[in-house]
Amino acid sequence: MLTAAHCVQDIRPDMVGDVSVIVGRTVLSDDSQGYARDVRQIYVHPKYKDDYAYDAAVLILSSPVTEVAPIQLATPGTDALERPGRLLTGIGWGNTVQQDPFPNEGVWNGPDQLQEVQVPVVSAAECSISYDDLDPALDLCAGKTGKDTCQGDSGGPLFVKVPRQESYVQVGLVSRGIGCAATGYPGVYTRVAN
Ligand code: ARG
Repeated sequence: MLTAAHCVQDIRPDMVGDVSVIVGRTVLSDDSQGYARDVRQIYVHPKYKDDYAYDAAVLILSSPVTEVAPIQLATPGTDALERPGRLLTGIGWGNTVQQDPFPNEGVWNGPDQLQEVQVPVVSAAECSISYDDLDPALDLCAGKTGKDTCQGDSGGPLFVKVPRQESYVQVGLVSRGIGCAATGYPGVYTRVAN
């Protein structure tokens, strides 16, 4: 299972036994949905520090999940899926209340039902204006006023449906952002293709 490094950075090796995950759930409170697995091991990206660059981690599960097919991951060749303006899909149970960039805090509403949002890719040139530490090789920006992921969505996927096909490719991992859905501050995603 792929997630963001900052979601699991505080889990010490002796705590891994207490961590479990669920695959295939859309209603968070519905215990009858999905397939639970214990986590056997956590691999945080070796170059991750805590500045959010290389914000990726892999969880090894106690046994394979066969009931739900894994999404395909982007490769360096899938860059056509990352062109500015292209709509990507983000999902999660994170905050659904728009957040002003400064101060970067506000009202919290965590939905019970999995949410979905279409966010346009923002060029690295434009995104660097708001995020001066942005490394376009490592990060991908997407979002516009009113359309973004937010706190609680981290580690979730940013993906695209391949045109005229029933297949999906994951291009990003929800990583960070200043505010949420604020003008001029798109969300920043770990670039799965790299
Ligand atoms: N770091 C946040 C989390 O842990 C994700 C923030 C995403 N922010 C955004 N504006 N897209 O859930």
